Amino acid sequence: MCESRTLWWDDGLWLIDQNKLPGELVPIRMKNVRQLIEAIKTLRVRGAPALGSAGAYGIALAAQLSHAANAFDMIQELEMAADMIKSSRPTAVNLSWGVERALRAATSQETVEDIRECALREAEEIAEEDIRINKALGKNGAKLLEDGDNVLTHCNAGRLACVAWGTALGVIRSAISAGKQIHVYACETRPLHQGSRLTAWELARDGIPVTLICESMSGSLMRKGRIDKAIVGADRITKDVVFNKIGTYNHAVLAKYHKIPFYVAAPLSSFDLRHEEQDITVEERDPEEICALAGVRLAPEGIDVYNPAFDATPLELVTGLITEKGIFRPPLMPPV
Ligand code: MRU
Repeated sequence: MCESRTLWWDDGLWLIDQNKLPGELVPIRMKNVRQLIEAIKTLRVRGAPALGSAGAYGIALAAQLSHAANAFDMIQELEMAADMIKSSRPTAVNLSWGVERALRAATSQETVEDIRECALREAEEIAEEDIRINKALGKNGAKLLEDGDNVLTHCNAGRLACVAWGTALGVIRSAISAGKQIHVYACETRPLHQGSRLTAWELARDGIPVTLICESMSGSLMRKGRIDKAIVGADRITKDVVFNKIGTYNHAVLAKYHKIPFYVAAPLSSFDLRHEEQDITVEERDPEEICALAGVRLAPEGIDVYNPAFDATPLELVTGLITEKGIFRPPLMPPV
């Protein structure tokens, strides 16, 4: 087993169950594609780059478990699995990117054995690439951070959101590896608390100084001069906006007002420059996520609830897009 990774293949697909964190670090084995889809929908595995790898491994898993007698039948099964996996969460573009890449590799083969081998090889390559890309992206972004900086982040764009290392937190890790002292303000990230459960956990575990705040506190901290920079991840970057965890837009507006640089760290696989904001489906989640906290109901029964998982931040609020190919200052975009 390989618990330094968020997901990995070891005679089958394994992932860290993020819903058990920070209490328990538990790897679970995905018995089939249905179980993987449940894990994606319930955020046992989450974060755009991790979803890209999970999607690709999902195709490898479908091929491994298939009893198809010939390549044609197996490809039909894989295409069905691909559609189901892709529709499990609509906003992060990496999920369909990973699924399609593995499917393309598989469908170029002519025997069931080759399809199995090729789908797995592609998924493993995507996972390895994810780590290399995050390290490159981290190194590029680390130049933007100065010794002693206090950095605000939202949700979890760390190693738990990727195969390892992280995007926004990867930049922070790289700056620290380069000898800079960085302190992080992690927003708790209502309603599912990826900030308090995951970001605070993984930073504290690595000995990186972190202070947990509610997202509603970021403006006040900026006003007091306690935040030097903000870095977040992305689920999808279109021609005009960055989709990321709900609440990101608020921080970006506040950062602009307080003249604080606001950076987005993301691999090129999160860019979708053929589309714009209006083309994208923003996932809306179960109202219960807002009505209850740790199983205790807080809101009155029957109350109307709006629970979008992501928001869109216009590119004019973004100081720089940190990628593995360098830093792009909108309207300049990477060639993807
Ligand atoms: O709903 P989640 O937890 O999957 O949302 C994750 C985020 O919004 C992350 O910031 C984003 O995926 C970037 S992860 C490097």
